[in-house]
Amino acid sequence: MEPLSLTDKKQSEEDKHLQEEVKTAGSIPSHIAIIMDGNGRWAQDKGNIRLFGHKEGVESVRDITEACAQLGVSHLTLYAFSTENWNRPSSEINGLMKLLVHSLQNEANRLHKNNIRLVSIGQIDRLPSSCRNKLEEVKELTKENDRLELCLALSYSGRWDITEAVKKLAKDVKDGKIDPENIDDDMISTRLSTGKVPDPDLIIRTSGEYRISNFLLWQLAYSELYITQTYWPDFRRDELYKAIQSYQKRERRFGKVKKGYTKKVSASVINKILS
Ligand code: IPE
Ligand code: IPE
Ligand code: MG
Repeated sequence: MEPLSLTDKKQSEEDKHLQEEVKTAGSIPSHIAIIMDGNGRWAQDKGNIRLFGHKEGVESVRDITEACAQLGVSHLTLYAFSTENWNRPSSEINGLMKLLVHSLQNEANRLHKNNIRLVSIGQIDRLPSSCRNKLEEVKELTKENDRLELCLALSYSGRWDITEAVKKLAKDVKDGKIDPENIDDDMISTRLSTGKVPDPDLIIRTSGEYRISNFLLWQLAYSELYITQTYWPDFRRDELYKAIQSYQKRERRFGKVKKGYTKKVSASVINKILS
């Protein structure tokens, strides 16, 4: 595979070695989703205003995107701005929107050169036109790329996503295309903004908060969760490797019993236990 660099830095031998270790230790999650949290506290701890944290967070986005592509992750979904984040002070929102335009502008060619497709989920029509236009431009530029799909969740919330899917279903029922009795999981999944994208295997949340904050509520039904105290601007590839190594040690049971557990219990034993 061709060399990949989003950082303009040559990949170190040590990093290549670490990636080989991660790849041989177990399966690499196909879809990683990240709640990128802690930018404000990172900046405030350093005596800076919150925007410094958001700006430094973009460096983490670049490093994690590159490392995911190198490891062979096929989908990376990043929670960048939630529906509820519109309730923040307007100065912070303005700063974030300008940073988004600026970052898209700076990263577009590198993403394209590295065969990464940019997509987005969320209420994009709520974003300022400068953001919408830049986003559309980069999506269009990268739409044929197939190494990694990088999805930005912008003005996104899980409840919004489910509500939109329900509206689509209701319309299909009204138009006589679907019998309500036949509605199943798959009909809901495919009407979500994530469409046919496989559910996340691993959800990472930085900054030590033990909550989902309205992220992919439907899609995370069986995702493995990894929470780290590290603030997002400090979350770089070595932290990603730790998260993947933790994921590789889990047994995903999907409601079944532990692998290899085959002991059969007779009806008489069941009756005896329950008597
Ligand atoms: C995450 O960092 C980025 C966004 C939600 C836009 P925060 O801005 O939430 O930072 P903290 O959690 O307040 O430290
Ligand atoms: C979640 O972080 C949203 C994003 C990372 C974009 P928040 O900082 O908004 O979440 P809460 O308010 O701590 O739950
Ligand atoms: Mg936060």
